[in-house]
Amino acid sequence: MSASADSLNRQAVVPGTSAFVRAARREDVGYTPIWFMRQAGRVLPEYRAVRERWSLVEICRQPELCVDVTLQPLRRMDLDAAVVFSDIMLPLIGVGVGLEIVEHVGPVIAHPVRRLEDVAVLRPLEPEQDVPFLLETLRLLKQQLAPEGKALLGFAGAPFTLASYLIEGKPSRDFVRTKSAMYGEPEMWRALMERLTTITITYLHAQADAGADALQLFDSWVGALGPADYAEYVQPYTRRIFAALRARGLPLIHFGTNTATLLDLMKDDGASVIGVDWRLPLDAAWERIGPALGIQGNLDPAVLFAPRDVMESRADDVLRRAGGRPGHIFNLGHGLLPATPLDRVVQLAEFVRLRSDRCR
Ligand code: CP3
Repeated sequence: MSASADSLNRQAVVPGTSAFVRAARREDVGYTPIWFMRQAGRVLPEYRAVRERWSLVEICRQPELCVDVTLQPLRRMDLDAAVVFSDIMLPLIGVGVGLEIVEHVGPVIAHPVRRLEDVAVLRPLEPEQDVPFLLETLRLLKQQLAPEGKALLGFAGAPFTLASYLIEGKPSRDFVRTKSAMYGEPEMWRALMERLTTITITYLHAQADAGADALQLFDSWVGALGPADYAEYVQPYTRRIFAALRARGLPLIHFGTNTATLLDLMKDDGASVIGVDWRLPLDAAWERIGPALGIQGNLDPAVLFAPRDVMESRADDVLRRAGGRPGHIFNLGHGLLPATPLDRVVQLAEFVRLRSDRCR
């Protein structure tokens, strides 16, 4: 039986809740669900073709086009989830922050936040007015994905990662301005984190209302902090976000990179699944997180540039370390790199689909 026919059969057995969501709840679904961060993006020629005509934000503003872009990777591969095509900066654009998402650079802010007064630009988000197109995209996607047994993932940037862009004004390596504000301007830091927390809670609730089956909080750059700073300057806000969403009963995924020393804290923040990068072996990371939570990850995205047999043995290693325990969702440790050969991505999805049965 082909991989896709096999997975369709499984979905036919249990209509309703997707395998992804059940696995995130640590139910045994008989295989390891898989998706890739940045699966809709530059690895796909059909995405690059759309981008020749439209910018990222222009794609987001056209729900039918955005639905199409979101589904592009699922037409190529048998993935368990679609992640709505958007960017972590979208709600900030929605409340009126002047910024541009510059290709090969990332978000660039017109007027970086440097003083307490600058924080005022972050008014509360009104999703139906500020990001109506995203909500419409989610509603349309839900109609298409639910009958297929595929999960729809919504997401948001976490306050630290958003604050780092707002303060630095552009992507940063050392986060010196961000940390200077954290240590030296406590009033501004608190005000900024409070406002970002409020925006993020509203934004994630709106995505769940519009049909998201699970929500991922991207704190991509939080690993720049040590545990004491994470506990003092970031954790209270992350906890507030997960506490506000917990009653909805959806899987909540907390993702960061370079978090090996933060996992002991992150595990108590209220997420149900922790997304980990490749810097810790998956079994060691799961040990830190504990058996009560699911885990997502954690193949090094650079391994997709290796020969196929090397890539497969590394993917096999991730699956063996998970040991078929319910609660593992296969992913990379960070997003797909734009230059990744598409063949490898397709091969990896197939390999994980076929191999994950045998690891239990
Ligand atoms: O398939 C998906 O994963 C959905 C789309 C998605 C995008 N951004 C689209 C995008 C998601 C989940 C994001 C989240 C995001 N955006 C994060 C968190 C995830 C991570 O990678 O850590 C961060 C830090 C950003 C900010 C951002 N936006 C960066 C660093 C970049 C890269 C700049 C570049 O050109 O390489 C972007 C731009 C961006 N967001 C692209 C895409 C597809 C690429 C540029 C483009 O196609 O115009």
